[in-house]
Amino acid sequence: MPGTRPYIPGFIKQLTGSNLLIFAHMKKEFTSLLMKWHQQVNKREMPWKGEKDPYKIWLSEVILQQTRVEQGWAYYEKFISAFPTIKQLAAAKDEKVLKLWEGLGYYNRCRNLLFTARKIAKENNGHFPDSYDSIIELKGVGPYTAAAIASFAFNLPHAVVDGNVFRVLSRIFGIDTAIDSTAGKNEFSILAEAVLYKKEPGPYNQAIMDFGATVCKPALPLCNHCPMKIICAAYREGKVNQLPIKEKLLKKKHRWFYYFLMEHEGKLLVHKREGKDIWQGLHEFYLLETDEQIKWDNQLVKEWLHEQFNITKADIQHVSPLQKQQLTHQEIKGQFIKVKLSGIPDGLGHYQWLSANKISKLAFPKFINQYLEMESLQIDLF
Ligand code: ADE
Repeated sequence: MPGTRPYIPGFIKQLTGSNLLIFAHMKKEFTSLLMKWHQQVNKREMPWKGEKDPYKIWLSEVILQQTRVEQGWAYYEKFISAFPTIKQLAAAKDEKVLKLWEGLGYYNRCRNLLFTARKIAKENNGHFPDSYDSIIELKGVGPYTAAAIASFAFNLPHAVVDGNVFRVLSRIFGIDTAIDSTAGKNEFSILAEAVLYKKEPGPYNQAIMDFGATVCKPALPLCNHCPMKIICAAYREGKVNQLPIKEKLLKKKHRWFYYFLMEHEGKLLVHKREGKDIWQGLHEFYLLETDEQIKWDNQLVKEWLHEQFNITKADIQHVSPLQKQQLTHQEIKGQFIKVKLSGIPDGLGHYQWLSANKISKLAFPKFINQYLEMESLQIDLF
């Protein structure tokens, strides 16, 4: 992804000279915009927010490994009201705890919770360990949970790194290393530690989690309302929907492809598909891939164009019926949305904008050809 990577060519460790200065500037801007957003705009409420008791933080994190915030909320409150302290949890009967856990699944997590509570009650008189190294030793506690507990309860400088954090960092810093590759995991962990606001690691970690969950969302992110858009490499390059990159996408059984056929003065946006998959090197229109179905209508298309590219005037000409393609190990479903633009938005200027004649000479994936043929659609009629 040339152009989006002036800040971090590979590992930050290797940065030298002016790149290092640019990165230092980016990092400062990123942290300050994120913390400002957290203090002034972030209204996300959750019962464990601002909590300082490591036991309660631990409990909330274990529950959130199992379920979403909305469902986790009630479980958390039930647990805290039944067992307000770690000693009370430790003293509880297995059945009572398992009963409260019912519905969350993966009961080993619950057993680990109980095991660890009993160990802390017995060996440490109920005092939760207070260093990252001792927290991560606990059964069932991984790096994410350890960083969350260490930073929220003890203000220790450890960055949480999960899917939300990968997404936010990959978009803002324009990093296209696959987040599920070893190189990607290393690169993002180093970056996450490097941009951590060490004066307030707890609020910073909460801020990045909330920001990823409510603004920099996987599908339909709120770019137009995003305080980071002024520094966001993906926004600048019109690539928000292509980041983060995952290597193992092919393992997914169901994929949703939404293609936007964007036209301006008789020319259509196309680009060559990057990434090593079965469509590598073929051309395509602007793609929004999601894990779940989106129910598009004209209003939502308008909102999306505005949110993503600050497009305020667009003529939405067609939202196609659902399209399917069965591949050996996966099913692709999606739609094609035709939009006539009155100008080329800043973020889309670097794509190819080609006439129908030129486009007819390019090779497209079957999913696209199938649509064009089925609709008997001559691109130049559009
Ligand atoms: N997901 C995991 N931990 C979380 C937290 N503390 N707040 C919001 N979402 C989370």
